[in-house]
Order: sequence, then structure tokens, then C-alpha cells
Amino acid sequence: MHISSPRPLAFTAPAALSGTATVPGDKSISHRSLMLSALAVGESVVEGLLEGEDVLATAAAMRAMGADIQRAADGRWRIYGVGVGGLLQPQAALDMGNSGTSTRLLMGLVASHAITAAFTGDASLSRRPMNRVIEPLSLMGAEFTSSPGGRLPLMLRGIAPAVPIEYRLPVASAQVKSAILLAGLNTPGITRVIEPVPTRDHSERMLSGFGADLAVELDGTTRVISIRGEAELRPQNIVVPGDPSSAAFPVVAGLLVPGSAITITNVGLNPTRAALFDVLRMMGGDIEFANARTVGGEPVADLVVRASAMKGIEVPIECVPSMVDEFPILFVAAALAEGRTIARGLEELRVKESDRLATMAEGLRAIGARVEELEDGLIIDGTGGAPLAGGATIATKLDHRIAMSFAVAGLVSKARVEIDDMTPVATSFPGFVELMTGLGGDIS
Ligand code: S3P
Repeated sequence: MHISSPRPLAFTAPAALSGTATVPGDKSISHRSLMLSALAVGESVVEGLLEGEDVLATAAAMRAMGADIQRAADGRWRIYGVGVGGLLQPQAALDMGNSGTSTRLLMGLVASHAITAAFTGDASLSRRPMNRVIEPLSLMGAEFTSSPGGRLPLMLRGIAPAVPIEYRLPVASAQVKSAILLAGLNTPGITRVIEPVPTRDHSERMLSGFGADLAVELDGTTRVISIRGEAELRPQNIVVPGDPSSAAFPVVAGLLVPGSAITITNVGLNPTRAALFDVLRMMGGDIEFANARTVGGEPVADLVVRASAMKGIEVPIECVPSMVDEFPILFVAAALAEGRTIARGLEELRVKESDRLATMAEGLRAIGARVEELEDGLIIDGTGGAPLAGGATIATKLDHRIAMSFAVAGLVSKARVEIDDMTPVATSFPGFVELMTGLGGDIS
């Protein structure tokens, strides 16, 4: 999806950050709102949709399969769905760009329709493992011809009716869980996902909200999610809260840049997403949750952040799934903290948009941080608040969260930190540079 040429940018330490800002809509919720609206009968309206490249890839794919999706002049999105089971044969390959969520969730939707679809993506997405969804969807009856190693590009032949399955997730992945539940939506009988480690629950919340017959049972921490298929979804009005994974970047910048005081409004705080803020507070971060409320069935608050002396910690392993995308920016906080931070249980980070353990370790070392890379995590010895050396160019590797993490690192480094290519940021956080500049970030 990155048709533009690389856009390098340099980030330098500012005096202090101040002011109030609002981050764009939640990426996970935005994807799901388009997919489920496109399967409801009638008009759904989505307010606050993230208009990032990943979500636009989902919109284009749902249009290619028959949904009518329009952006109104007031910024709301109107979606007229085709009904569960009503997806049409796309006439061309579905281009997923950089988006793993679009790919895996849409593979689930297509699997239980009698249509064939080709899935393609950029170089980063084409390296990511798809066997984790190919395996359960094959058990349901779908057929796949993939590139070596279960990768994109791949061809998916769906089937209707598909076979309902009971599937225990071998990796903690909301994308795999959601792919199976979405396939189950058009499958007769009950499809069941057993989730030993809880992951983000937006699919469950939203499927229930649209009227699907979905039940969640708890056996200790194991969650058993059952969906009865051939449901009829009722159109909804959805308000998408701000993305906590995007808020993470200005929040950490506000904690680390001396003298800062900022507020990030309307941040989604679903407990399956928001562990970063708890961990930052455990590290001594001054983050206040103001004006707590519920928006679109999700808990939301304004985050009031003041510069803080951070201390290293051992990140509790049970926090990992609810901050899985936030480790790159947490590592930046750890690099400025006093003492040692140990983060383990992070093998999944190796198969994100880039190998985030290797990319962060390499980049942080290049700007003067002390980092030891483990197979499943990083150990970081922080500076105790002193700025990093900086003075390096960071290779982004088509990974938006790497670009934004090192942009923040640049704000707490002596010499400027150059990011080789900021264009991937448009996948999840259009307006990132403008937002950081608005808070006082020094960017050239
Ligand atoms: C997502 C789930 C996570 C996350 C991704 C979005 C989702 O991936 O990393 O950015 O919307 O379901 P996994 O489920 O593969 O961990």
C-alpha cells in the first residue's frame, strides 16, 4: 500500500511537551465495525472510524465482496450490508497492504462462503505466518493454496455450508480467535473457540452487539467462546473510541520529556488492551484517568500525563496479551528508566509487522541504550532519566510502531534520531507527526 517514496524525518529533544490532543479511532474496533456492518441487513453508521491504510484495506475488500460502504461529508461512515452468507465473489485479488488483521479476519469470513479469493500484501505482510488461520479454517472445510511456509500471496476456496469446529488456540491471538468466530457466523450449528490466555475481546463484544448468538464461559482464566451460526445481524450505530495503542506514543513521550504535562482525550481502556498504562504507572509514571465513561460499549477516559522519573520493572507476564502491540514503546520508556527492565514471554513479537524484538534491540543500541536480546524478550538497563545519545538512522522495516517508537526516542536523545521512512505510520496513525508537533515535539 506504500505507493509513495520513503519519507525520512528527524526527531530532536524539545523543551517540554504540553497541551491536549486526541488520537484517531481504534484500529481493531474499526476493522470489526466495517466487517460486521457489511454483514448486517440494512444501514449501519460508524463514527470515529480510523481512516488509516489498514482499515481502508478492509473497506476496499468488503466493497469488493458486495457491501456498499460510503464516507459521508460529516466524517461518518455508512455501510449497507449484504447479510450473513451474502458475500459475493471478488473480481480481483484482495490487496491487504500491511494489515495482518484485515488478512486473518477476512480469511475467516471468506472461508464459510462459497467463493474463492486471492489475498496479497506488501513485503512485511508476505513474511508473516498464516498457517495459524489456515489450520482451523481447513478443519471447517475451506481449501488453501499458499506461498511456501503458509504465507501470502495465497488463494482461499471457501465452502458453504462449512463444518462447525471446537478449536483450542495454540497461540494467544485475537486474530485467530476472530477468524474462527467470523467463519462460524455463516456455519450451521455451534463453533467454539477455547482461549487459554485471554486476548482482546472486541469481536465478542461487537458480535453480541450486532445480535449474534454468542456465549462466553470462564473456566479459571480459560475462556470458551461459542457462536451459533447462520445468525442475522442487525445494523448498528457504532462510536469508535480513540486507540490506546496510538495514545501510547504521546503518553510515553509526555512521561519522558522533562517538564511535560499533556492530556490525551477519549482513549479506549478496554481491559484486554490497556495494560501498558498500568505497567507505566507501576514504573512510576504519573498517568491520571480523568472523565471515565463508556463509549460504544467500551470504557474510555482522558489520560492526564506528567513527566515522571521512571523505574525499571519485571513486566508481569500476564500483562503481555493486553499490551502486545505496546512493547516497542515500552522499551523506549525502559531505556530512560532507572535500573533494569525485564520483559519476557514475547515470542509473538517476532512475527508482527517486523521482528520487533530484533528491530527494537538493534535500534535502541544504535542510539546508545543498553539492551540484551533474549529469544522471548529484552532486558534493558536504563539511563535513570538521562537522555540517550541518539545520532543514528533507524530502519523502520515497514513497521509503523517501530517508526513511532523511535520518533519518541528522538525526543529524548541528545543528537537527532532519523527515521528512514515515516510512511508506514499511515497504516494506524494518520496525523501522528502533526499531533506530536502540536504538543511541542521537535520534528524536521
Ligand atoms: C489484533 C490482534 C493482535 C494485534 C494486532 C491487532 C486484532 O494480533 O497485534 O495489531 O485486531 O485482533 P494477534 O491477535 O495476532 O496477537
